[in-house]
Parts: sequence; C-alpha cells; structure tokens
Amino acid sequence: MALFNSCSCSSPSRSPLLPFKQSPSNPILFTAPALRPLRRRSVPNRLPPRLTASLAVESPPESGNDRGGKSKELLLEVKDLSAVISESKQPILKGVNLAIYEGEVHVVMGKNGSGKSTFAKVLVGHPDYEVTGGSVVFRGENVLDMAPVERSLAGIFMSFQSPIEIPGVSNIDFLNMAYNARRKKLGQPELGPLEFYGYISTKLDLVNMKVDFLNRNVNEGFSGGEKKRNEIFQLAVLGAELAILDEIDSGLDVDALRDVAKAVNGLLTPQNSVLMITHYHRLLEFIKPTCVHIMEDGRIVETGKESIAKRIEKEGYKAMPAT
Ligand SMILES: Nc1ncnc2c1ncn2[C@@H]1O[C@H](COP(=O)(O)OP(=O)(O)OP(=O)(O)O)[C@@H](O)[C@H]1O
Ligand SMILES: [Mg+2]
Repeated sequence: MALFNSCSCSSPSRSPLLPFKQSPSNPILFTAPALRPLRRRSVPNRLPPRLTASLAVESPPESGNDRGGKSKELLLEVKDLSAVISESKQPILKGVNLAIYEGEVHVVMGKNGSGKSTFAKVLVGHPDYEVTGGSVVFRGENVLDMAPVERSLAGIFMSFQSPIEIPGVSNIDFLNMAYNARRKKLGQPELGPLEFYGYISTKLDLVNMKVDFLNRNVNEGFSGGEKKRNEIFQLAVLGAELAILDEIDSGLDVDALRDVAKAVNGLLTPQNSVLMITHYHRLLEFIKPTCVHIMEDGRIVETGKESIAKRIEKEGYKAMPAT
C-alpha cells in the first residue's frame, strides 16, 4: 500500500526548464530542446537596453512555506514509482510516493546510494533507467508518456549532481536555443541574439557570474562551484514550474552557497516549486523547506519538517525510525 508522502506537515500531498544535456552514454537524448549548431557569437561589450522577457519564474522574490494566499494546485504527484537500471535491470526505485503543490519546497535526504539522484533522473526521463511501475503526473499530465524534451518544455528543470560539459556549444547559444524553444511552446515570440543578450545579462548578477562565462562552452573547464552556479544561472534564465536541484550545494564555498540559495529563493513564486536533494542542513538555513523526506533503499521512509534534517545532521541516519 502506498504511503502518500505529501507534505501533510503543512498541507495534503503537494517545476525550468530542463536544459537536457548530453549524457555520456546517450549523447542524443540529452540535449537542449531543439539544440542545433549555431554560429559562435561573441558577447557584446556594451549592453543593449534591458528587456523584460518573462517566463514562469520571473515573479517577485518570495520564499518560505505556503507562499501566496490562494488555494494551491497540485503540481507533481508521484505514486508507487519503481524503476530499474535499463542495462542491468537492477531495481533502484521501489515504490516512491510524493506529492508537491505549487509554491512548495520539498527536500529529499538520504544515505549515499539510497536512490535520490535516480529518482530525480527518472522524473526527467533519463534513459539510463526504465520505469517498471507507478505513475508520475505533472500538472495533470502523465509525465511517463512524455519524452525528456517534452518534460522540459512542460516546465520541469533539473540541475544534475554532476553537471556535464558540452564541448563546442557556448553557454549563451545553449541558453538562447533552450529559452526560445520554451517561448515557442508557450506561444511567445522568440528572442533574437541581441534581445536575448539584454535579457540574460539581467540574470548574471543573480548568481554573481561574470559576463565572460557566457561565451565559454557549457561547463567546459568550469570549477565544481562554477558549474553549480551555472546550473542555477540556467534555471534563472530558462524558468521552471518545477526545479529539481540535485545537490546544488555540493562543492560550494560559503559565499557561493549564499549566492546560489539567494538565487533559488529569488525564483520561488506561489506558482512554482522546488524539489531539492541535499545531504546538509546548512542549505536549509537559506532555503526554507515546506517539508523534508528521507529516502532509504529506493523508498521515502519518513516525511516531516525541517527538524528531521537537523536531527540527521546531529545524529546520522541511524537515528531514523526503523522502517
Ligand atoms: N546508471 C547506473 N548504472 C549502475 N548503477 C547505478 C546507475 N544509476 C544508479 N546506480 C546505482 O543505484 C544506487 C542509487 O544511486 P543514486 O545515484 O540514485 O544514489 P544517491 O542517493 O543519489 O546517492 P548520493 O547521495 O551518493 O548521491 C547506487 O547504488 C548506484 O550505484
Ligand atoms: Mg546522488
């Protein structure tokens, strides 16, 4: 029987675009929407007038629990989700249940190897995994029937635990293509390079990123912390209704952690939500969760408030109730 891991700590059960990137094992599937070679362009020295292109996440910053006064819509509902590794058929997810409402921040913690990243990757349709049971519904649509790119265009963004490099594709071209693909999907006019530059330059400050990163190839030669910043920069530019952030805090120095957390908070609105995987409570000092879930052996075995994270940091996973 499914234990429904909604955040009943605050409400009953409760999305950037996913800039799908090349996966080393599946270079074709994991590409940005409509990713195609573009001629390299360099970033202008002078900024054109700033534009106000907007997507779902460009709303006034507001964070914390239960943002907004209106009744919240169910955004993501995961029921009894099970999945195996495509190649070996080894079961990893063994019945995950989770519900995320609009405006909520859900955190997944758990021991190394408990299945957290697999869960995140299955949600975005990573080809390394095969779903063997259960359902995933995002804004009323069956996600499991959707190709990764469709999930991305529908408003699901994922930042990977280990962001991969895309040689030969500059950050700005990558983002321009992905951004326009989403705008097209939303029935909005696409932005040309100059207009896009005007828009994107307003986002650099959000993550304290230097302008020269725009012309560099996606993540190529970036330090660990720079890659994480770049992931959040992508989220800020592309927008999302559900942002899945896998260990966005790992490898960040304390200032970078603050910047990244500030940027995530700045992106939260009453309409969009975050599913965050982390090992450390320190992230939750900056981004306040609606609730915290503990994953163990491919299942969510405990759901509660931020205090769970504090307890685990102090006492370790042995302090978890027996399951
Ligand atoms: N593509 C794959 N091929 C082989 N094994 C895999 C693959 N993906 C996941 N696994 C295995 O599945 C288990 C769960 O991995 P996963 O990356 O989801 O753990 P995690 O909870 O994110 O751990 P961590 O906290 O260390 O990031 C691990 O034992 C891992 O080795
Ligand atoms: Mg992981």
